[in-house]
Amino acid sequence: MNKNKLKKIVKKIFLKFGLNNNHSEISSNYIIQAELVGAPTHGLSRLKMYCDRIKKKLINSKPKIKIKKISQSVSHVDADDAIGFVAADIGIKKAIENAKKTGVGIVAVKNSGHYGLSSFYAEQAVKKKLTVLCFTNAPPAIAPYGARKSLFGTNPICFGTPTGSKVPFILDTSVSMINRGKIRVAARQGNRIPAGVALDKFGKPTTDAKKALRGVQLPIASFRGSGLAWMVDILSGVFTGGNHSGKVKDPFDDFTGPQNIGHLFIVMKSNLFVGNSYNKRIKDNIKTIKKLPKIKGVKEILFPGQSKHKRYKNNLKNNIKIPKNILEDLEKLNSY
Ligand SMILES: NC(=O)c1ccc[n+]([C@@H]2O[C@H](COP(=O)([O-])OP(=O)(O)OC[C@H]3O[C@@H](n4cnc5c(N)ncnc54)[C@H](O)[C@@H]3O)[C@@H](O)[C@H]2O)c1
Repeated sequence: MNKNKLKKIVKKIFLKFGLNNNHSEISSNYIIQAELVGAPTHGLSRLKMYCDRIKKKLINSKPKIKIKKISQSVSHVDADDAIGFVAADIGIKKAIENAKKTGVGIVAVKNSGHYGLSSFYAEQAVKKKLTVLCFTNAPPAIAPYGARKSLFGTNPICFGTPTGSKVPFILDTSVSMINRGKIRVAARQGNRIPAGVALDKFGKPTTDAKKALRGVQLPIASFRGSGLAWMVDILSGVFTGGNHSGKVKDPFDDFTGPQNIGHLFIVMKSNLFVGNSYNKRIKDNIKTIKKLPKIKGVKEILFPGQSKHKRYKNNLKNNIKIPKNILEDLEKLNSY
């Protein structure tokens, strides 16, 4: 379907479910962006979940979002259970504003929900020539190293910086072997997941997506990944006033209360320490790495975000493909 037409439909659905015009515009925009960057696991496949949570008043359709100024650089957002896209959009915009004034902007967000892809927010800062770190926590999926029960989310870590070219450097990665959305989509479509990414509830390796959802996902790099997931839980949860230590509710399965997810945005002027030489320094850095001898089968050494950018540019020219089950959801939601 044409992306503009699809965006109008998604926006209309959010309006029907009670979000105001601005919040519906922001949320539909991010959902379509996820499809365009080739991350359907964070796009239309989540629309029904967001609507279900709005209907059950677990996402507040009329939030009274408060921004508390802590200093010129630091702000604290209480999102009042707003949809995560809106809460995070306010958070990153405030962090950018603070960084432009003082060189550094730090914004913590609490009482938020699932905000989609971290790169949505990082890209906004990088477009303004800023360097950025984004953190969010997520519902239990990964067992802490040595434990048999999942507690940490797939807690993505995102870093973005300008490269001196049109393509931003955006490292945006879950700390699990694969993101949970991919397992959910595989479970829904009856597909298997790769080996080595999850254990079933008895602790046995599995490629069955449904069993993986009931079991635990494996972190990247063993105890190191578990440590990174823990770090994100502290920065996004303990630090911000959001839920932490396994208390973030699964948005698809747990309707007993709002998620109270936390996000942390740290934005810095890229020229903070090296002035105008930043552009040359980053270009030299990337050039040096790209010139390294390559292993067999690799045509080009890519920096994080490079292939996603290319995919996005290509997808802009094409219609968005919608799987049958998602199209059915869309039709039902549209006739709500
Ligand atoms: N909101 C949430 O709760 C939540 C939780 C988990 C993940 N997510 C989002 O899911 C998205 C997908 O996460 P993921 O872990 O599947 O990402 P991924 O595995 O697709 O990519 C991870 C990173 O590796 C880079 N990369 C990929 N191939 C590369 C190559 N050949 N050379 C160099 N770099 C390369 C990508 O640009 C990206 O920055 C992210 O945007 C993340 O923010 C959100």
